[in-house]
Amino acid sequence: MKAVGPVKKSSVKRSSTILNSHEIKLSFVGIFLLTVISGAQAQQIGLLTNTDGRRTISLDGQWRTIIDPYESGYYDYRYQPNANGYFKDAKPKTKSDLIEYDFDTSESLSVPGDWNSQQERLLFYEGTIWYKKSFAYQRKPNTRLFVYFGAANYLTDVYLNGQKLGRHEGGFTPFNFEITESVRDGDNSLIVKVDNKRRRDAVPTLMTDWWNYGGLTREVKLVETPVTFVSDYFIQLQRGSRDRIAGWVKLNGTQLKQDITVRIPEARISKSFATDANGFARVNFEAGLALWSPENPKLYDVVIESGVDHVEDQIGFRNIESKGAEILLNGKPVFLRGVCIHEEAPFRSGRAYSREDAITLLGWARELGVNFVRLAHYPHNEFMIREADRMGIMVWSEIPVYWTILWDNPGTLENAQNQLGEMIARDKNRAAVIIWSMANETPPGDARLAFLRKLIDHARTLDGTRLISAAMERHYVKDTTTQMIDDPLGEYVDVFGCNEYVGWYDGLPEKADGVDWQTKYQKPLVMTEFGAEAPYGLHGDALTRWTEEYQENVYLHQLAMLKRIPFLRGTCPWLLMDFRSPRRPLPGVQDFYNRKGLISDHGQKKKAFYVMQSFYRELQKHSQN
Ligand code: GCU
Repeated sequence: MKAVGPVKKSSVKRSSTILNSHEIKLSFVGIFLLTVISGAQAQQIGLLTNTDGRRTISLDGQWRTIIDPYESGYYDYRYQPNANGYFKDAKPKTKSDLIEYDFDTSESLSVPGDWNSQQERLLFYEGTIWYKKSFAYQRKPNTRLFVYFGAANYLTDVYLNGQKLGRHEGGFTPFNFEITESVRDGDNSLIVKVDNKRRRDAVPTLMTDWWNYGGLTREVKLVETPVTFVSDYFIQLQRGSRDRIAGWVKLNGTQLKQDITVRIPEARISKSFATDANGFARVNFEAGLALWSPENPKLYDVVIESGVDHVEDQIGFRNIESKGAEILLNGKPVFLRGVCIHEEAPFRSGRAYSREDAITLLGWARELGVNFVRLAHYPHNEFMIREADRMGIMVWSEIPVYWTILWDNPGTLENAQNQLGEMIARDKNRAAVIIWSMANETPPGDARLAFLRKLIDHARTLDGTRLISAAMERHYVKDTTTQMIDDPLGEYVDVFGCNEYVGWYDGLPEKADGVDWQTKYQKPLVMTEFGAEAPYGLHGDALTRWTEEYQENVYLHQLAMLKRIPFLRGTCPWLLMDFRSPRRPLPGVQDFYNRKGLISDHGQKKKAFYVMQSFYRELQKHSQN
């Protein structure tokens, strides 16, 4: 197994801190604290994992907001960054003072939650909104404090008490900042500028087939830790093994050289390892455990202790590999009965973010008969992954390298690598996640191949235990109805993902009857997208577009075609539930929703749902025999 280590610091950029006289007076109180803690803070903190296993204070709820389409809270009229921007949260001190904004009398938005679905007038809004949260805090001895964001779309600048903490880029991965030094006893003002403007050099880029929901879309919380604490860990089965755990534990703080203990009480396992001067310890030990699988999603309580710190997590242990055209789970061939899911909230629309949303969406997927979900096209919230872990549903997790991004742009590559690093950092201990996907429907070409190969290398460096893939395209062999899978990227992935729409974008439903498939690669194929659109309740004959009967017809012909592909090891129809898309305006049919769901956004099952469900029941019966 290749050496794996903690994720390097992600896309968080710190600017110089400006302390005003009032704060200098205040900070004397904390000088002693500072000397101890600043030693600790000198180390890069990276992403705090498993924040649910730590002491936290939620900052969710109503946040004051200022809509700022011209970013006049950030730039002056010369479009230069303004040192007295809205992040100063200034108040008039005299009756003559001129302050042209006031968070505390401004309207509020809910956090977590995208802004587009909270107010009709914000539905199409793309730009900047400022958020303010006041919170009271009492500093504690020997305690460090962090502010953690589950995600914010897209470009986020964070300030505490007028100081810039940093910036994060990417709308679907978590980030955190240490505020031990900048938090005050009493009232604190946390100001967050969120800008969801689309950019050509961004990830994703200008064009997507999903709604660009902006805002503080996931939970925000304060996280308390001891001065030296377990900042990160990777505890999984060694690649290719079903009874050896291999991984690492990383400390952050002042006492870096110490013993750490990994305990699995239920299995009477307790193993100690010494950290090195950087607070890093490799762990490697034998462990005869019940293996995690969809049939038996066994999670163990795992306790990691060091000095005064104690983190508990629920971890499943399973082995996932590919051999030739087979995908092997715990050494046995497995067929991935999947469905694609967007992070769209059931019933209310908007960006899904809660445990309830996850339970509803995965519950519907389970009803369909899945053992696998493709979470498209970006890392979903942690509740989705943790519920999949508990329910025994394998997961394909993807970064939004979607369609045609700027392959030659170094900044775009760094951004994609950071999002990849954060995705892996958060979910690397989740048994449910079996595949990391680098991209979706990207056009073959040298620059693209070089870009995606760098991502694949990065992913393999960070985590050598999971399969690597991407959703790729295919083409017809000239003058035939043979679909050929020969994308050069196929050389570098473990599993070949392929999107096809025979019967919808490509001919009529029965066209699939004459289509056969060939591949250049001795690798498992997962059909990562196929399907058709129909708003729930629109009926007609099987060749009338947009009707449930047409969608059903596509599925019937699709499944017959898919059954004929010898190297097919998974299917993932597009998709579970209708979702909002700015590219779908057709009145009375789409109304800015992509209607390819097997279920409507109001939970109504379409005819095609039952076609897919009986196919999966058949497969399940088959696999049990
Ligand atoms: C594409 C794409 C999806 C999109 C779907 C569609 O293949 O990957 O993001 O929504 O097709 O057209 O419905």
